[in-house]
Amino acid sequence: MQYIVTGGAGYIGGHLTDRLVSEGNEVMVLDDLSSGKYENSGSRLVKVNLIDSDATGRLQLPRKATFVHLAADPNVRSSMDNVVDHFDRDVTATLNTLELARRSDAKSFLFTSSSVVYGDAKKMPTPETYQLKPISNYGIFKMMSEELVEYYSRTYGIKSTSLRLANITGGRATHGIVPDFINKLRKDQKSLEILGDGKQRKSYVYMTDLIDAIMLVISRQSSGYRVLNVGNSDSVSVNEMAGIISGEMGLKPKYVYRNEFGGRGWKGDVKVMLLDTKMIQKLGWKPSVSSSEAVRKAASDLLDSGKPQLRH
Ligand SMILES: NC(=O)c1ccc[n+]([C@@H]2O[C@H](COP(=O)([O-])OP(=O)(O)OC[C@H]3O[C@@H](n4cnc5c(N)ncnc54)[C@H](O)[C@@H]3O)[C@@H](O)[C@H]2O)c1
Repeated sequence: MQYIVTGGAGYIGGHLTDRLVSEGNEVMVLDDLSSGKYENSGSRLVKVNLIDSDATGRLQLPRKATFVHLAADPNVRSSMDNVVDHFDRDVTATLNTLELARRSDAKSFLFTSSSVVYGDAKKMPTPETYQLKPISNYGIFKMMSEELVEYYSRTYGIKSTSLRLANITGGRATHGIVPDFINKLRKDQKSLEILGDGKQRKSYVYMTDLIDAIMLVISRQSSGYRVLNVGNSDSVSVNEMAGIISGEMGLKPKYVYRNEFGGRGWKGDVKVMLLDTKMIQKLGWKPSVSSSEAVRKAASDLLDSGKPQLRH
């Protein structure tokens, strides 16, 4: 099958491209290499900034490809300051990618949205039908992108899905708490700085489980548009993560809290996140490891690979 993976040089996109290539698919990666640098030699990498509609307009794409749109800037914290840049990377890039899909008569379109669209949800676990009240610019931009995907699907008949992802972790992570804690502990083994009160509690999915979910959803794309949560049935707190990661490194650091945003790690950080995943489970997906095991495995993967590199 023919795939177009935007953001395929990034963290999730690289793992997805590996899986697609290993299963014998043809993969064209569209990425501006602004943050992702990964390249699978079995795929075709086209360097393009998806914000630039002149550049995307010149692209020659295969017809009837399956699109997976991952390109974005996923950093909640920086979205609160670099608003216009985030709007472009998170929304304009989505519109231009949808245009590519429409013009090339895409077979289907999968968009990676985020659990952050719910904001501080009161209902836990949070179902797909719950109200969307994002509390970060990244969140509102994901919500706007979902609307664009739904509109294109309804108007141009493109089979589409938005996946609202919980936190994803695993080998080659370049951003998120796991590589952040490992890098901090490598610099200072005696103390660990924790942003917020450490009681933030979220659901984590191990990378291979996420890739299984994406592959399943692509194989079951039906006509129309749908939204699916992808998360674990349990959650793990930041304090628990600190314990798991220190333990993997054989350390017992003292925790030093930088609690400047009422317990949140940063402005726009959602404190508690747990998604209702009955809908994707009905399709046949279930994560193979819990949230805390996903964190432990990710720490182990990163430590085995020698040097987790932190981007943000
Ligand atoms: N990692 C997570 O925990 C998580 C959770 C929820 C949702 N998501 C979503 O999943 C997707 C992938 O996330 P990730 O963690 O792999 O992020 P990432 O930053 O590692 O990958 C994003 C990729 O997009 C590329 N890119 C950014 N702007 C671009 C542009 N204008 N044109 C072309 N390429 C561009 C980057 O170079 C990078 O390779 C994102 O849409 C993100 O919002 C991720």
